Amino acid sequence: IRRKKDTMLSAHDFAAKLYHHLLRNTDHGENARNYLLNRQIQLATIEEFALGYSPDSWNTLLYQLEKREYPLPLMEEAGLLSRSENGERLFDKFRGRVMFPIHDSQGQVVAFGARALGDAQPKYLNSPETPLFNKSQLLFNLHRARTSIRKQQEAVLFEGYVDVISAWQAGIQNGVASLGTSLTEQQARIIRRNSEHVTICYDSDQAGTLAAFKAADLLEKAGCFVKVAQMPGGMDPDDYIRKYGGERFRNDILLHASSVMAFRLQVIRSRYALSDETERMQYIHEALTEISHLPSAVERDHYMRQLAEEFHLSLDALKLEQKKVFKTQK
Ligand code: UTP
Ligand code: MN
Ligand code: MN
Ligand code: MN
Ligand code: MN
Repeated sequence: IRRKKDTMLSAHDFAAKLYHHLLRNTDHGENARNYLLNRQIQLATIEEFALGYSPDSWNTLLYQLEKREYPLPLMEEAGLLSRSENGERLFDKFRGRVMFPIHDSQGQVVAFGARALGDAQPKYLNSPETPLFNKSQLLFNLHRARTSIRKQQEAVLFEGYVDVISAWQAGIQNGVASLGTSLTEQQARIIRRNSEHVTICYDSDQAGTLAAFKAADLLEKAGCFVKVAQMPGGMDPDDYIRKYGGERFRNDILLHASSVMAFRLQVIRSRYALSDETERMQYIHEALTEISHLPSAVERDHYMRQLAEEFHLSLDALKLEQKKVFKTQK
């Protein structure tokens, strides 16, 4: 088994270098180079993240692997090759895509995320689970970000590969991403092992907001102090950095991250039309319920005061109301 894994690792290392070479130095890579240029990903960043390109061909990698006598069925098991439906032919799994190598915590390439240059579906094709690649236990970029995360005792959790890369390019080196949108318990524990503080910075669309809720829960359960940073109007971190620059991203977004409770209240608030009296009362009631879930009396008091101030209510009235909430919970 050891030997099998070693061969798979060596093949991934080789494939990453091949894809990178094709992107940097060949005509095949031209469209992908332009694609990255358009997304304002610089050459130094392409080098740092060893980005690559898989040509739109059935056998570019296959041919090179064969030449180097890698056992092809093992390469299929490693997720680098696919098999035709009738089972007779093997071919390159990744074709015509920008390749994002995914490293394990020791910095070895164990998988790829592969983005289509245009609107082809899926947008990202990822390596399957293999003996090397356990999605739920891996964070994209952890091996690069770890030093910075430990030094700052702070990690930034993103949704996407490009968000991490964009942030890195803007000087934010403590970013990692869960692979896919939902963070797992194991990933939360890995983050906690490296840092007590985490800022979640997911896309500010509906999927991202929902995922941020869940991630915040898992991270708090893992023992992290969590904050949530949000971009305006459906943007993701990469969109924001491209539009406003890294400086503003750091100052206006990351440093303005809210507590999880403030984020929760904000999201709940957005579901109500607060100018309507009935809805306003419903919101206050739902907010009280949320606040009453907080284990710390000091924190409960803090958010109650905020709520009272916001709606010009007396704190006493709110407290009375909250007692009712507590009662119905028991
Ligand atoms: P997003 O849809 O937010 O993509 O998915 P993105 O990172 O902003 O992509 P760009 O900017 O259009 O290139 C966030 C992450 O979810 C995973 C990828 O890891 C992606 O980075 N994902 C998304 C997939 O695995 N497959 C998909 O088809 C889409
Ligand atoms: Mn290079
Ligand atoms: Mn998204
Ligand atoms: Mn996104
Ligand atoms: Mn994006």
